[in-house]
This record gives sequence, structure tokens and C-alpha cells, in this order.
Amino acid sequence: MTDEMTTILEPSAMSDFVETAYIRDITGRALSYFKAGFPVHFRGVSGTGKTTLAMHIASKIGRPLVMIRGDESYTTSDLVGGEHGYRLRKVVDNFISRVMKVEEDMAKTWVDNRLTVACKNGFTLIYDEFTRSRPEANNILLSILQEKMMDMPITRGGGDPYLKVSPDFTAIFTSNPEEYAGVHRSQDALRDRMVTIDLDHFDYETEVAVTEAKSKMSRAHSETVVNIVRGLRESGKCEFSPTVRGCIMIAKTLKVLEMIPSKSTGFIQVCQDILASETSRVGSKTNQGRVKDVVRELVEGVLNRELEVRKNLKKKSDVSVKSFSSKKNAANKMKKLKVA
Ligand SMILES: Nc1ncnc2c1ncn2[C@@H]1O[C@H](COP(=O)(O)OP(=O)(O)OP(=O)(O)O)[C@@H](O)[C@H]1O
Ligand SMILES: [Mg+2]
Repeated sequence: MTDEMTTILEPSAMSDFVETAYIRDITGRALSYFKAGFPVHFRGVSGTGKTTLAMHIASKIGRPLVMIRGDESYTTSDLVGGEHGYRLRKVVDNFISRVMKVEEDMAKTWVDNRLTVACKNGFTLIYDEFTRSRPEANNILLSILQEKMMDMPITRGGGDPYLKVSPDFTAIFTSNPEEYAGVHRSQDALRDRMVTIDLDHFDYETEVAVTEAKSKMSRAHSETVVNIVRGLRESGKCEFSPTVRGCIMIAKTLKVLEMIPSKSTGFIQVCQDILASETSRVGSKTNQGRVKDVVRELVEGVLNRELEVRKNLKKKSDVSVKSFSSKKNAANKMKKLKVA
């Protein structure tokens, strides 16, 4: 007997999801690999949009969604299912209302876990950060992805030791690079059965659009914040590169404080606090101090550059307005000459 007690999600588009050319390109590529029958694996450092992209693609596939997050303590039965005890049964007599019989027992019943539910019903599976689970726990995926069969434990009952994976089953994996703390090396055999797409930090356009959508700050101010964060990323002075999360945090904080990017101490402080904490693991004073110095210089540099660009744009527009009005004057003079 199987008893399903699994959370099934209905994927739907996020209201503040941003779809730029970069996102459309990756989504399109992933959907073609699914069509060809291969699972897709998004690999990249933190904050490169792996989980959000996986959810977006699941909503495009349009099937119910089951999500698993990799965990060091997982065993195969946490993915597949296991025997769980305790059953309470109530018998209510419809004819004699005073009669109610309650039966309790410890009979073990098999409960399918998320992976089994997804394979059996042809749902979409997102296995987020799958390399956080130990490789032995993930071995079950080898036959699911290759032979489209699931090797079931005998205790499951129902006779058949194999479960046929539904043709509608689709799997999306995400993982952080192997050098991250708490991450296992993914088995070569497993990686060989999926198409791995390596993701880098967003392109400029996407990073600005995400910051704007998440914080509701203006486009121009979102650009300033993104320029500062990207400047720090490119400086190579951080233990960990700052991510789009840094941009979102700064922008949201500014919104709450009713501040805009400027050379003020308040703005520099917000940038320093958020970016120094995001980019260092141990929080050593020297490292944080270095990052804070770079951030201060970047704020000045970015704001000066933007001011310069605005001035140049203004000059150009003044020149074109002048040349337009001088052309108009010349035309008027010509008209007057003709009339005379
Ligand atoms: N296309 C998008 N539209 C709107 N917001 C996005 C988009 N992509 C990513 N984000 C936002 O960017 C942040 C980082 O994205 P996400 O959590 O998906 O990254 P990740 O690669 O899974 O990171 P981690 O490895 O730390 O789990 C989140 O706040 C997310 O909401
Ligand atoms: Mg994630």
C-alpha cells in the first residue's frame, strides 16, 4: 500500500520575475534539452539565479512541481520513501450515534517520498543544491535518468520491485561549485546523464532589471548600485564576489531609509556594511577594512562618472537645441527675404 504525503507545488510565474534576453536564452536552451529527453543542471556560484531560473522553467513546463533540497543527512529513503508507523482508525456508527470505535496500532505503512511521487506521476522535480546530499543517497538517480526505471526497496510492497518512470517526468538540478563548504563532489556517472549549464553572475542588463524589480527603486538609482557592486566584483579584492543579492539588499535598504545613492556618509555606510558582510566568510578585520576602503572609493568614482556622463549629455542636448533654433531662425530669415 502506498500513501502519499508529499507537498506538490503548482508552479506559477513570479510577479517580479524579470525576463531579459539573457534569461530567455538560458530558458530556451534548457527547454530544448528537456524536449530531447535530458535533465538540466544549473551550476554556479551563489546568487547566479539558479533556483529562480529552475522555478521559472518549471512554470514553463506547466506540470505539478516537487522540490527537494540537498541535505548532508539524507539517505536514499529520504528521497524514495520509507516505512512509517502509527495508524489511527475511527469507526463511527451511523445508526447508533453513541458508538464510536477508535483503533490505534503501530502497523508500518509505506510512504512514498518526493522523488517517487514525481517519477510515478510525471511531475517536474527540482533537486536544489543536490550535491549537498551524499553521493550514495543520490545513486538512485542513476537508473531513473538512464533506464527510466526506479529500483524500489522490497518493503514498499505492491509486488513490482521496479517503478516505471513516467515519460512526463522532468528533472532540474542546481549546485554550487565543489569548493563551497558542505558540498560533495558530484559523481561523474550522474553528471554524465545530465546537461550542465554553467551560470556566471548576471549580465549588466539583467542585474539592473532584477535590482529594480525587487526593490522598486528607480532605474537610474538601480544602475548606480549595480555599478558599485560590479566595480567591487571586478576589483578582485574580495574573498567572495558580491552577488545580485548585495544589489537587492542595498536598494531595499535605501528604499526603507528614503535615501538615494549619493556621496553621503549614510549611503557609503549602507554599501560598506552590506558588501563587507557579503564578501567575507571569516569576517577578519583586515579583509573587511580593505573591502570598505574599496567601496568608499567606488562610490566616489561611480557617482563622479555618472555626473560627468549627465553633464556631457546635457551639453549635447543644449547644442542640438541651439542648432535647431538657429536653423529655425535662418529659415525665418529666408521667409522674410522672400516676402520682401
Ligand atoms: N529573473 C529574475 N527575476 C527576478 N529576480 C531574480 C531573477 N533571478 C534571480 N533573482 C533574484 O536574485 C536572487 C538570487 O537568485 P537565486 O536565489 O535564484 O540564486 P542561486 O544561484 O540559487 O543562489 P544560491 O546558490 O545562493 O542558492 C534572489 O533574490 C532572486 O529572487
Ligand atoms: Mg539557490
